[in-house]
Amino acid sequence: MSLSLLIIDPDPVWVKSLMTFFLEKSFKTDDAYNGKDAQLLIYKNKYQVVILDLDIQNHSSFEVLRYIKLNSPDIKIIVTVKDALRITEIGITEFELKKLGASELLTKPFLPEFLLKTIENNYQIESWRDIKSNTDSKEAEEVKAGDEEFTRIKFENFFSGTTTIYDHYIRLGKNKFVKILHEGESFDSSSLAKYRDADLDYLYFKTTDRLTYINFTNELLKKIIGKKSTTIEKKVKFTQSVVDKYLEQVFSSGLRPSLVDEGKKVCENMYHLIEREPELNKFMKTYEEFNSMAYGHLFLVSFFSIITCKNMDWASSRTIEVVALGGLLHDIGKLKLPPSMRDKRPAQMNDDERKLYESHPKLGATMLNNFPSIPESVKQIVYQHHEWADGKGFPNNLNSIKIYPPAKIVILNNEYTTFITDKKLAPLAGLKEFIKDKSLFPKFDPTTMKALISGFMKDK
Ligand SMILES: [Fe+2]
Repeated sequence: MSLSLLIIDPDPVWVKSLMTFFLEKSFKTDDAYNGKDAQLLIYKNKYQVVILDLDIQNHSSFEVLRYIKLNSPDIKIIVTVKDALRITEIGITEFELKKLGASELLTKPFLPEFLLKTIENNYQIESWRDIKSNTDSKEAEEVKAGDEEFTRIKFENFFSGTTTIYDHYIRLGKNKFVKILHEGESFDSSSLAKYRDADLDYLYFKTTDRLTYINFTNELLKKIIGKKSTTIEKKVKFTQSVVDKYLEQVFSSGLRPSLVDEGKKVCENMYHLIEREPELNKFMKTYEEFNSMAYGHLFLVSFFSIITCKNMDWASSRTIEVVALGGLLHDIGKLKLPPSMRDKRPAQMNDDERKLYESHPKLGATMLNNFPSIPESVKQIVYQHHEWADGKGFPNNLNSIKIYPPAKIVILNNEYTTFITDKKLAPLAGLKEFIKDKSLFPKFDPTTMKALISGFMKDK
């Protein structure tokens, strides 16, 4: 699909180089060299993306930002600046620019490829809405492509609308795929049955479509959670599958404003699943097959944190969503650690590595400062998720009185989830073992502990 782009910049040489690049990539591209012309073009045409330089004159960049926010709030605005010092000279922060509506701030010079990647990350997320349904069904075709280009989902977790919004593949062998559904094709669930019957476990799509998948399935999930005919098990698995792909995206491409919004939607969905499903407690208690290993750590921390939070007297639905997002993003600071350290346990680290590791809560909270839409309370959870009630945690050795109450929920569930995953235990069996280990008790707030236990024991 071709995107419509407007480049607003006082430097004609720079504009021409970008235009040549984007025209080659089939973007519809317009140019403006001052703010007044830019506003006129925005008034007359429909753009999905605007690249706006901070130094444009005759209607300043701030006037243009305000104009877009007021008249065309759907436009993604990427602000560019001539060098890093310019921002300070102008006297504005990145945070303030984002409040004015900028999705991203890029410092020049950068390669057009980098800009393209930024645009795709910001725009692609909702592009499926424009896909037109096509009733002609196409033949399956064999495709040679690298395994590393694909993302997979289990057939059992596959849900679709009536139109296929991106190409779907099955994998025949190393670097060998068959495209079985084409973007835009109208979808009939029976068309997948033969592949499922052939004992294929996974359906594949290109990783470049993962953002589309996340946005689309988040919407679909909302509907499925409300459906009485879908089993709890299927709802939980589908939710986990969406969360899983969301986290893959965050941890491979970094957090971006559009992904923050998706994270909030993921948390709302998890909350609604737990809130609206009266049988969920029973499900958690009796579902022997619940294999903690099969669910991602971050998903489980978030999921159990919601259950715990629901049992705290002071928690509102807003707090629950904050706790869910804090649970999902608590380890985001690990992105700043060397990749070789990300999966290491502290016990396997040398002193220098441990010191670095203990900085990840602060690194995470600092990263989140770039996102005005992330509440301060989520940053506090991320910052404090390794503090213990006895003051022996890190990075600040806070004791119980100083730990932010919603953070106590994530602290407990982070430890509990690690415990049950390490011991390969189902949640209830794992909880029984966990509460037997009295040495863990000083770390946690007793009221929070009681709320987690009630989450499993209390029948609604
Ligand atoms: Fe952590």
